[in-house]
Amino acid sequence: MTASHVRYHSSLSRRALLTGATGCALAALLDRSPSAATVELRDINLSAAPGRWPIVGNPYAPTDVWCYGDRIPGPELRVRQGERVRIVVRNNLPEETTVHWHGIRLPNAMDGVPNLTQPPIRPGEEFIYEFTPPDAGTFWYHPHADSLQQLGRGLAGALIVEEPDAVPVDRELVWVLTDWRLTETAQIAPGFGNGMEAAMTGRVGNTVTINGSISKEVPVKAGERIRLRLINSSLARVMALRFQGHRPVVVATDGQPCEQYNADRLLLGPAMRIDLILDMQGEPGRRYRITDDFYERLPYWLTEFVYDKSQPSFRRPLDPAKSLPRNQLPDPDLTSAERHDLKLQGGMMGGGGMMGGGMMGGGGMMGMSGMAHNAVWAINGKSMIGDGHSDMPPLLTLKLGRSYLFNINNDTAWWHPIHLHGYSFRVLARKGSPVPHRQWADTILMPPRETAEVAFVADNPGDWMLHCHVTDHQVSGMMTVLRVA
Ligand code: C2O
Ligand code: CU
Repeated sequence: MTASHVRYHSSLSRRALLTGATGCALAALLDRSPSAATVELRDINLSAAPGRWPIVGNPYAPTDVWCYGDRIPGPELRVRQGERVRIVVRNNLPEETTVHWHGIRLPNAMDGVPNLTQPPIRPGEEFIYEFTPPDAGTFWYHPHADSLQQLGRGLAGALIVEEPDAVPVDRELVWVLTDWRLTETAQIAPGFGNGMEAAMTGRVGNTVTINGSISKEVPVKAGERIRLRLINSSLARVMALRFQGHRPVVVATDGQPCEQYNADRLLLGPAMRIDLILDMQGEPGRRYRITDDFYERLPYWLTEFVYDKSQPSFRRPLDPAKSLPRNQLPDPDLTSAERHDLKLQGGMMGGGGMMGGGMMGGGGMMGMSGMAHNAVWAINGKSMIGDGHSDMPPLLTLKLGRSYLFNINNDTAWWHPIHLHGYSFRVLARKGSPVPHRQWADTILMPPRETAEVAFVADNPGDWMLHCHVTDHQVSGMMTVLRVA
């Protein structure tokens, strides 16, 4: 099972134009990095529309979904680091939408948040996104309007930004992992926005797919080295993956390379990504399970590696994988960083945060999507609900260019993957202890009652969302806006 690698080749290449008008800058670029020298604009067309997809497979009928490019997940978009992309999004859905390029440090106007960074794309209309991804890595795209329903009906896809020089592996796999709540006839269960669920785990489903279908096995060969890109595109399901008989090496988190480390149980909250190097050291002919045991009462196996019967032509010596080249992220200056506390509050059996004053949008106010969302969560006593209020003042205004350190305190009984738009941040500490391996992230998974410290340089101006990526939590109050100016 592999993602279908839909490669979009530029129909409108600016390469000729640029080489025609050669400047020293381009010549220097050519000199320094021959493989990155093609400067071109890549044109991509993406439509969002209702469709059908065989999520479960025979004997079940295909599932009615909403999808990008007529498939689940949406087409795997592969672009190169530093290459300008232009994506024309056409909305063929029965309601307004936008596309958010999750994790890409792009200009605010391209961030895809309705009524904050752009007007929503109305049915039958188009919006053109244009940006140059500064970082190589594993990213993804999804709507930011009526998020529960649009993400829950299948609108999501992988966005891979390739390194200028290919990383030496035998094979690369991209797994978009998606949790669905299906009925007995394999249709998407109704009832998005259940208030009880919203105050607890969110809409955790009953079917997990790899690249849009249930997977029984993934063929592999003894001796090969695989780069596996994991993307959790679920509405609410947190995953804890174990690779029976294998020792996965984490080489990047949320697209950003880290110091390599072995992990036996990989925590992957909604919206998070992990890049792994897997040395296939299993026995030819054998099967090895990949399991998810995050929810104690709901363990299941995701798929199995099935080894080809042939012996490896050579035993790969266990030389460490080559590290990924780091992206050019500005290092926060921790001595001068301004500190702020972000307190996550609310939910069932929460820490009393819901009783406090300052709640906004409570009492079943309508969000922009028209779906009723109660404010059951809050950040620092304030709740933004639905698609977000364009008129709610930013929680904080950060000074452009300054370093910031956020102390995130999860004062609830639930897990929250907290995502900041427009930035990657250093994960400095958890529960007061330093986090090893120089990890960066755009989404940090906060266990119940824990704290974490993250830091970044506020170098990207604009109004940026910060929210929990358990979608029910996001639309019912665990969302806010930070202004960088
Ligand atoms: Cu994955 Cu607000 O985004
Ligand atoms: Cu949450």
